[in-house]
Amino acid sequence: MIKPDAVGAGNTGAIIKMIEEAGFRIIAMKKMHLTRERAGQFYAIHKERPFFNDLCTYMSSGPIVPMILEKENAVESFRKLIGATDPQKAEPGTIRNLFAKSIEANAIHGSDSDANAEIESNFFFSKLEQF
Ligand code: GTP
Ligand code: MG
Repeated sequence: MIKPDAVGAGNTGAIIKMIEEAGFRIIAMKKMHLTRERAGQFYAIHKERPFFNDLCTYMSSGPIVPMILEKENAVESFRKLIGATDPQKAEPGTIRNLFAKSIEANAIHGSDSDANAEIESNFFFSKLEQF
């Protein structure tokens, strides 16, 4: 998911280009604006964290671009492409190193397991859109 800071800064195209050049196939993609409530549902795993409220405000502050991506070893490979959560710790050349503004407004989300990738795909896309 390309997050509101990166979409708002006009970096959607540059980020999609990096994703495709890294060998990911885009299976589904759209642009949408999460409500605060839906943002909270997406990041429900973090609801006890001190930054949860700010995270929901940020994630509903503008449009996002969710995608379903396909590649061999996709989860690990994508997290390598996006870099560390904190852009100051992200490797040079990673998406967060190039485009993130802060540890919160960090340009992009990547699923952290195959199981969560499926849950998150179903959060954003109906089966009809996926096939
Ligand atoms: P995602 O791919 O978005 O899930 O990021 P991640 O897996 O690298 O990090 P994590 O799941 O731990 O955190 C989810 C999101 O919460 C991050 O991407 C940030 O947008 C935000 N976040 C994480 N840690 C902090 C923090 O310490 N402060 C603030 N303000 N936001 C944070
Ligand atoms: Mg995460």
